[in-house]
Order: sequence, then C-alpha cells, then structure tokens
Amino acid sequence: MSEADETFDFVIAANRLPVDRTEGPDGQIEWKRSPGGLVTAMDSVMRGRDGAWVGWTGEAGEAGEPFDDSGMHLHPVGLSAEEIRDYYEGFSNDTLWPIYHDVIVPATFHRRWWVAYERVNQRFAEELAKVAAQGAIVWVHDYQLQLVPALLRELRPDVRIGWFNHIPFPPVELFAQLPWRDRIIEGLTGADYLGFQREDDAWNFLRAARQLTGLKTKNDTVIVDGPSGRRVVRASGLPISVDFENLDALARSPQVQERAREIRESLGDPRVLMLGVDRLDYTKGIRHRLKAYGELLAQGDIAPPDVALIQVAVPSRERVEAYKHLKEEIEGTVGQINGDYSTVGASAVQYLHQSFDRAEMAAMYQAADVMLVTPLRDGMNLVAKEYVTCRHDERGALVLSEFTGAAQELSESYLHNPHDIQGLKRTIIRAIQDSEEEKGRRMTALRKVVREHDVQSWAARFLASLEAAPARPDDDD
Ligand code: F6P
Repeated sequence: MSEADETFDFVIAANRLPVDRTEGPDGQIEWKRSPGGLVTAMDSVMRGRDGAWVGWTGEAGEAGEPFDDSGMHLHPVGLSAEEIRDYYEGFSNDTLWPIYHDVIVPATFHRRWWVAYERVNQRFAEELAKVAAQGAIVWVHDYQLQLVPALLRELRPDVRIGWFNHIPFPPVELFAQLPWRDRIIEGLTGADYLGFQREDDAWNFLRAARQLTGLKTKNDTVIVDGPSGRRVVRASGLPISVDFENLDALARSPQVQERAREIRESLGDPRVLMLGVDRLDYTKGIRHRLKAYGELLAQGDIAPPDVALIQVAVPSRERVEAYKHLKEEIEGTVGQINGDYSTVGASAVQYLHQSFDRAEMAAMYQAADVMLVTPLRDGMNLVAKEYVTCRHDERGALVLSEFTGAAQELSESYLHNPHDIQGLKRTIIRAIQDSEEEKGRRMTALRKVVREHDVQSWAARFLASLEAAPARPDDDD
C-alpha cells in the first residue's frame, strides 16, 4: 500500500500543517514549524499516537504527496493563490476573525470569499474521508474549518467527529451579522462534540443555534434532525493548555538558564525587564501596552537603563490590510518611544519582528521580571501559560488582560482591563513594586493551575467527551 492510501484511526484536521513549506537559499524545500498556539499544543498531543494530520502547507500550489515529519504523517491540502486570498486571508481572517473577536476592526463581507471557504472546507472533508480508517476519530480544529464536520459526516457517517475552537465564539448579536450564519451552525452541528475555550463560548454557540436556526437545545446540547435520524451534539468549555512537563524541563536546562543570563546582560542588566510576546495581531492589545509603557516613561515612573522592555512581534497575515496598518502603527510608536526615552546603549524598547525557537522563548521568559499580556480579546493566550511554566524559580509577575480565556484560570495574576490605560499603568507599577514574597505566592498558585491542567489532560478530556458524546437523544426529547 502506498503512503497515500494508508488510513489512520486518529486524524487531525487544521488549516495549517504543523510545518510550513519554505524555500532555502539554494531553492531546496525546507520545513519550518508553523506559528501559533494551535500547532504548539497539538504537536505534543500527536506525538506517539501514530495519527495523521491533514492541513495546508502555507504556500500556493498543488497538495503534494503525504510525508512524515517529526514523527507525524502529514497529508497536505493544496490551496491556489486565489484560495489563499479568498478563503484564508479573506473569509477566515477578514470576515470571521473580526466577528469572533468583538469586531475590534470591522469585518468585511464578500460573497466570493464565502464560495472559496465552502470549496476549501469541501476539499478538507474529502481528504479526511480518504485518510480516516473505518470508525476513526477525526478531530477538526478552529474557525477556518467550521463546515467540515457536516461535510465529512455526509461522506463518512462511520467516523466520530470532534471540533475545537481555539478562538472565542462571539455573542449572538455579533454572530448574527454573518450572512452565512445558518450554514456555519449547520456545518458545526455535523460534529458529535464541540469544544470551546470557555463555557461562555459554548453558551454563545448554543444560543446562536437556538435563536438563529430554530434548532432545539437542551442543557449543553443541540438536537439535530438529519437524514439518518435524530442526533444530539454536545457543546462545552474545555480550556486548552501547554505541555507543562516538557517546557518546564526545557526552562530548567543549563543552556536556557545561561541564555537567560546573557539576555539580561546584553541589556545592561536592568533592574526590571518587561516582556511582550505576541503574533503581530490587533487583538493582542500591543498598542494599548505601548501606550501605557510610553506614559510611564513620560511621567518618569520608570526609565532606562533601570527598566527595559523586549517586545517580540511574530509576523502574521501580512497581506491583510488591518495587519499592514497595525504593523506601521506599532513600528511608528516603538520608534517614537525609543527616540524620546532611549539613552546611548540602553533602548527603551527592544522590538523583534521575528519568531524564535522554544529554547530562546524559554530563556526570554526566564529573564523577564514582568510579562505583559494585554489582549483586547483572546480565546486563551498560551503565552501567559508558557511564562508561568518557565518560572520554576517561582519569581516574575504576570500582568494579564481580563479579556483572555486564560484569565479565568489564572486569577492570581495581575489582572487588568487594557482599555483602561490608567488602570493598566497602575497594574504594571504594582507588578514591579510588590514584594518578592507576594509575587512568589502568586506564581506558586499560577504554576499549580497550569501543572494540574496541562495540554495532555486537555486532550484526554476532549477525547473522553467525544467518546462519551450521545448518539441519540433521551427518549423524552
Ligand atoms: O488559534 C488561532 C489561529 O488562527 C490558529 O488557527 C493558527 O494556527 C494561529 O492562530 C496562527 O494563525 P495563522 O495560521 O493565520 O498564521
């Protein structure tokens, strides 16, 4: 049997494969890890499972043959340049992304984008139908693939289908704006189990299903009448997490510790090193963070070389207009802050528009006294959990926005509303000035939460919920 005909009992579908195809300097193909929390989380779930991962390679063109990488069987789905523009940059990231993130920027609606979204979802469903063994478990991820559950069920009624949303699910008032809202609900209810980051997201979905499509809901389930009879679809909150054990071990390694010292030294050993790590996305509140930081400098509350800020901004979706604007704005603000407050040899902001490997990130987390996580809306924010995981010394302070999914579990962090710049400034100062004892107490509590709710337990709970998902409603429905 060729690799292309092989089938698997466990199959993941995500917009991206965990690796992106890039061309090396001599035109040779190189595989680079894809950005974002989804890949980091699922990477560790997949290891040792002998499952397949169906996704896009990050480049325009034909799908190419399945291949193995990092111990996984990878099945590429091809997207043309037009499909990247209409399905990925357009419908996924310029229609759904803003609607699902409180319309921080306005959403754009184009019927042509929707047609591409449908077509690409159909292609994913067809690939999954080929790759899944009889009775397999298929785990579909995220907002780019919301039609896949129903499309796959039509092709392969024998498989168990779960879907997990890594981003928020919007309140019905916002979701209702989508001209294709019924189709999305119909697509999702093809699954056996739907997982969301928070209970509130699951309730938003259930309410949308009830109010916009007239489906009957009962507690945390939706009742669907399909061609093969009645089905019950359960929706619940299941917050994603990090691979605590692995990342903790990495952060404890002598190489990472040494690198953390080097990072501090290279910045002139500031008394307070602050850190921001984000995909360069308007949901992350980088503008609000820089505003607060700039005002604290202007007021003389903090000053380099005593205080420094590293801002890592991982390049993202650079052809989408809102992201182009954001990049210009952030880079302009960083230039202004540095022009006004840096001294010779001590920059107020070290801005790094790049991505770094796990070891370098662990060293940065180890080096940072104050971690700034200020999103305006975020499904979870795994950076917050990564920071906590890397602080085995039980030092450091996590300044965390209330509008992240992580805030519900990490209630011992320095919580704030990023829209309230005065409040954010006060919180940053508190995080700097609190006693080491108080910070240690908070960090110990935070680490306990992340250790006890790691990505492995998240995946196990998701799969148990999928396994237990009822096939038929109770008799009285
Ligand atoms: O979790 C949200 C998400 O869109 C993931 O689906 C994705 O892996 C990550 O953020 C990065 O986004 P993109 O794939 O658009 O670069």
